[in-house]
Amino acid sequence: MRKLSALICLLTISQLLFAQTKPVATPVYKDAKIAINQRIADLLKRMTIEEKAGQLNQLNGGVFTGPAMNDAGQKGKVQMIRDGKVGSFLNVTGVKETKNIQRVAVEESRLGIPILFAFDVIHGYKTIFPIPLAEACSWDLPQIEINSSVSAKEAAAAGLHWTFAPMCDISNDPRWGRVMEGAGEDTYYGGLVAAARVKGLQGNLDDVTHILSCVKHYAAYGAVEAGREYNNVDVSRTALWNKYLPPYKAAVDAGAATVMNAFNVVDGIPASANHFLVEDVLKKKWGFKGLVVSDWGSFGEIIPHGYASDNKDATLKALQAGSMMDMESQIVVKYLPELVKEGKLTMKQVDDAVSRVLYFKFKLGLFDDPYKFSDEAREKATLFSAANRAEALKAARSSIVLLKNANNALPLKKSLNKIALIGHYAKSKEDMFDFWTANGSASDAVSVYEGLQAKFGNGKIEYSAGYNADASTNDKLISDAVAAAANADVIVTVIGISGKIAGEERSLANVNIPDGQIQLLKALQKTGKPVIALVNSGRPLVLTQAQEFSNAIVQCWILGTETGTAVADVLAGDYNPTGKTVMSFPYAIGQIPVYYNHFNTNRPAPEKGDGAWKSRYRDIPNAPLYPFGYGLSYTKFDYSGLSAAKQMEKNGTLNVSVVVKNSGNYDGEEVVQLYIRDITASIVRPVKELKGFRKIALKAGESKTVSFVLTGKDLSFFDGDGNVKLEAGAFKVFVGGDSKNVLEASFDLK
Ligand code: BGC
Repeated sequence: MRKLSALICLLTISQLLFAQTKPVATPVYKDAKIAINQRIADLLKRMTIEEKAGQLNQLNGGVFTGPAMNDAGQKGKVQMIRDGKVGSFLNVTGVKETKNIQRVAVEESRLGIPILFAFDVIHGYKTIFPIPLAEACSWDLPQIEINSSVSAKEAAAAGLHWTFAPMCDISNDPRWGRVMEGAGEDTYYGGLVAAARVKGLQGNLDDVTHILSCVKHYAAYGAVEAGREYNNVDVSRTALWNKYLPPYKAAVDAGAATVMNAFNVVDGIPASANHFLVEDVLKKKWGFKGLVVSDWGSFGEIIPHGYASDNKDATLKALQAGSMMDMESQIVVKYLPELVKEGKLTMKQVDDAVSRVLYFKFKLGLFDDPYKFSDEAREKATLFSAANRAEALKAARSSIVLLKNANNALPLKKSLNKIALIGHYAKSKEDMFDFWTANGSASDAVSVYEGLQAKFGNGKIEYSAGYNADASTNDKLISDAVAAAANADVIVTVIGISGKIAGEERSLANVNIPDGQIQLLKALQKTGKPVIALVNSGRPLVLTQAQEFSNAIVQCWILGTETGTAVADVLAGDYNPTGKTVMSFPYAIGQIPVYYNHFNTNRPAPEKGDGAWKSRYRDIPNAPLYPFGYGLSYTKFDYSGLSAAKQMEKNGTLNVSVVVKNSGNYDGEEVVQLYIRDITASIVRPVKELKGFRKIALKAGESKTVSFVLTGKDLSFFDGDGNVKLEAGAFKVFVGGDSKNVLEASFDLK
């Protein structure tokens, strides 16, 4: 759908571009032998203030990924390019379309400044990888980097220069549809994943297989109240420094070229106009030299926030805060010249912003060859190649999390006679895809039905829908499903919610498994056959009832192009699951937000026993159904012999080691996790904080000693002004296979 409307728009725009071309002289800034800074300085001298404003203007050129602001129409946009009033387009894709537009910019505008083409390549361009939240459950940073590099390679081959990823927002709220775009609830892990994604997307930005990344949504967008998209955020300065900011910083430190403002307010000031966030922290404290782009329309939306009176005021406030490029508000292009003429903005401020846009155009080599990313043969050879699909398959397998496996219901025996495959989502490819699938086609994906057929044989799969596309059901659908199970050895059922409800503008108040599917599970369980529930969802759902009525639960998330093959490999035991959750799975909706790294409170409830007058619910447990870091394997890992010294110096290190044994019957991989707790501090610290992990492979029966080294950095935290604190006192260290089941030891920091 996205793709189709994009194509219609783009054909129209490209048809308009076969106009006459004017020859351009070769000025100094076009001389590849001269250093970039000099070329930028030369170009700035030649530019009018209107052309400078134009470089800060990013227009939508294709499908809308936000509300239409002040759409100039395709013809109007072409004229704006000729007038030097567009620095970048988003949502124009493909070599043919981008090249046509580039030609107008380079050949028909006065200075011939090339356009930057940007697109949301969130988890793949044509070969679709698992959603970022799922991919993070692999705890496999090298694979995560590869996933991003394949996405970049395909996007670059399709004429793109820039993607709006990675999203580095920490979130504790599965009601927010965008948790699918992040790496979950942990700050430390979120930073590592963000850095891997930036490296994968960007490489050294010196070839035609990498693109600019964009760290978003700066800052704290994951804290939207009640998980509602575009809602308010109200976080303390200590939470900002300790919980929300570090992943953005990790991405910036990894070399991210661009950063996107968030929609929300931080401390009562819209992020786009927030001087503290952009100028003080990002640019001054972190030394960010790249480009800051608004989110869709977020400069204009400073007005409804109640922080600017009109578009001119909003432009002034955004640019004064240090923000630079205007995505789709189209107000910078209009008001910047006036603001400079009136002396409200200095030319120095404008030149700083414009030179950052120009820098990346030079860095990518677009002044030297504007069509560097415009090779149709490369595009054809790169998109959806067998090699790219092979990486997507690896990524999909390692994203799957086995949540329950009573009596070793899984893996399935390949010798079985019949599998009853129940559930509309098992066949419907549209429901396996989410909002952010770039130019991927659901029809190219392998469904669970196709995957199981290929693995177990055509005749062995008996399919029945069980529920409708909207997840509702009726007696007939349920009795058909039960009938399909009559001759089966096992029932595999796909439950959950459609992928179409994952992503932006897809907040949900109800994150339960739909009632109809629970009825279906109950009926299936009554057959007495083992019930394997595969969960299709872009967020953790409440699985409390679902796990009661099934023998095994496999969290499949939204896995992308290779879904069915990966799922079949896991069900058949050809891949032993290794994934571990990166967001807690709530026991009930009323628990949200529920997360492992909370504070202790004044009256912590005991895990068992009398909780009277303690911080607890009367009707449900405090603990989530499945904690952070949790995931089963077909084998079993035992932890023993945690060893750590009793003391550590502030400038020293602490060695921690543990023995992990594979005591089951399968070879497997385990994510060994290390957490700490600072018992008493000048600002209260969480009950547990992840500070290290290792993903290790162990043959059946094999043991390994796993070692970690803690440093002062791991034990430090930020105060409300962003100063680093390392305080002497008592600490705990925990090691285990998830955030709950751990061995623990104590030590003192001297
Ligand atoms: C989203 C961004 C996205 C942008 C461009 C906005 O609505 O919040 O994450 O990159 O649109 O599509």
